Amino acid sequence: MVHTPPALARFVARSTDAALRDLGRAGLADPDVVVLDPACGPGVFLAAAFREGVRADQTSFSFASQAPAPRVVLGLDVDPHAIAQARAALPTDWPLRLEVGDTLASLEVLDEGARAGATLAILGNPPWAGRSENRGSPLLEGLLEDFRRDSEGRALGERKIGVLSDAYVRFWRWSCELARRAEGGAVVALVTNASFLDGPVHRGMRAAMSRFFARVSVLHLGGSALIARRGDRDENLFSVRPAAALTIGVRPRGHDEGRSAPVRFAALRGSREAKLRMLASAETLEALTPERLADSSRWVPAPTVDARYLEWPALPELMPFHREGLQSNRDAFCVDVDRGRLLERLRAFADGEPGPFPGSAGVASAHYDPERARAAVRAVLTQDAEASEHVVRLAYRPLQHRWAALIPRLWHRPRPDLRLAMQRSELALVTVRKDRGERAWSHFGAVREPVDNCYLSARSSCRARAFPTHKPDGAPNIDRGAVASWASHLESPPPAIELLRYALCVLASPSYRARFDAALRADYPRIPPPASTAAFHECVEAGGMIEAAFHASVHSFASAPVIVGHHLVSADRAGALTEAIAASERALAAALA
Ligand SMILES: C[S@@+](CC[C@H](N)C(=O)[O-])C[C@H]1O[C@@H](n2cnc3c(N)ncnc32)[C@H](O)[C@@H]1O
Repeated sequence: MVHTPPALARFVARSTDAALRDLGRAGLADPDVVVLDPACGPGVFLAAAFREGVRADQTSFSFASQAPAPRVVLGLDVDPHAIAQARAALPTDWPLRLEVGDTLASLEVLDEGARAGATLAILGNPPWAGRSENRGSPLLEGLLEDFRRDSEGRALGERKIGVLSDAYVRFWRWSCELARRAEGGAVVALVTNASFLDGPVHRGMRAAMSRFFARVSVLHLGGSALIARRGDRDENLFSVRPAAALTIGVRPRGHDEGRSAPVRFAALRGSREAKLRMLASAETLEALTPERLADSSRWVPAPTVDARYLEWPALPELMPFHREGLQSNRDAFCVDVDRGRLLERLRAFADGEPGPFPGSAGVASAHYDPERARAAVRAVLTQDAEASEHVVRLAYRPLQHRWAALIPRLWHRPRPDLRLAMQRSELALVTVRKDRGERAWSHFGAVREPVDNCYLSARSSCRARAFPTHKPDGAPNIDRGAVASWASHLESPPPAIELLRYALCVLASPSYRARFDAALRADYPRIPPPASTAAFHECVEAGGMIEAAFHASVHSFASAPVIVGHHLVSADRAGALTEAIAASERALAAALA
């Protein structure tokens, strides 16, 4: 259980109090305000609301005969032990209701007397777990539909939108709905995982929240352990891996959802102690003078990007078939540098040996059934003792090819359509969709085999994505219409391999990467149109040299690897790669001019 440091809870309470005053209420202690923590745990936020509410109230109502109080203070939590702790710890000066139960099961948490005309203040730190126990609850599923549409109301095109089922996302949606139903308007102030601020799939969530609220303020609390850092210290306030953020949405009475809320942003960076000191001394979030974001489609400051860059097509527009790399979840069993050793392991597994097997291949988990995996391995080996079609090369990391037992039942994400596409493709470009790291962007490569999803980074927010030259059905992986309008002056539409080499040249160009570094880390790379047919062919040639340098490197284990640009290659190819990169720079100069 991750509890909120009191300094943060009090900061949230002060900021909520101030936002309520902006809505015309007398802060948290106003008799027409309902204070609600939807996942209150032992009551850190409710205690903070009480202390800050009383403090603010003493300043503004010092002559009142009776200390004012909110209409009701409601704490909900599924854990009876936490509710018992809250009951013991919280003062009873305010009308307090603490209830055990699943908050997300119902929106009817306030009776008519509590609701009538009241302004709602929802604050807290709901669970962040990847999976919510309420997965599949019809109430939430229906509400989450709003988060699955973009700002134009179109369904999100992504195949995977699992991140929109995270518990904190559900708590946000639930809180938004209560805010929408609050007759006297609402303030929602939640500390959650910060991923939704800039996650591409979370754009639907941001779009809906921009409509639900009249204004939004974000305090990024930093501390992600999931990104490559610049090197300075930035600690997590909760000792968890993802970065955290406080987000406050304000919804006045009679709010018009036809407009999109302005978003203001501030961030804390540094040691945990320094952050807590800052939170203790800052009056409210508004006092931290958050910057107004010019583009509120992402809730973090936008990189300053050349307007031209945004007009270029993103790689998936040119090459529509792309897949994330393969993921076994048990590499120690399925992947090996030595083919013979891997086969031996498969045979022992198929023969029913008790193990234990590396990578816990004999152990069942939510998505893995070792008995079915064993049967699948046995079937493969009975057909072909060498498993020639199944034990194949995998592009595991740059410079590291491995043998992989690509038997789907053994893999968490076997990506059969990527395998099929690779069998029909000369090459695949590998890159990432986003990179939350702070080091210069360098996430690209070229492979001829199926690629592992950690090929370019081990971080889950930075998975390798392959764009093969051909689709699984063997058709060229090119959107002819998009390519034709992008490179309208080329004499003829290029074959997929040329387009891919051109893109490789672009991604290898140091000036392209330096100029668009921030944009490259935010979403798929965008590809500038070639300046002329001649320049296109020069780029294709430079891309071919880069590919050759990478590819040759893979098999040159004899010489020690060196780094060229941001790439690791074997020493014997370093000269060739340096030359290829210089060629890409020259060939691209006109397109970037
Ligand atoms: C991250 S803790 C935060 C607790 C408290 N707000 C704090 O900051 O110390 C999340 C809390 O959510 C509760 N919780 C998890 N799922 C819940 C659900 N579906 N309904 C209500 N409470 C839930 C847990 O029991 C836990 O107390």
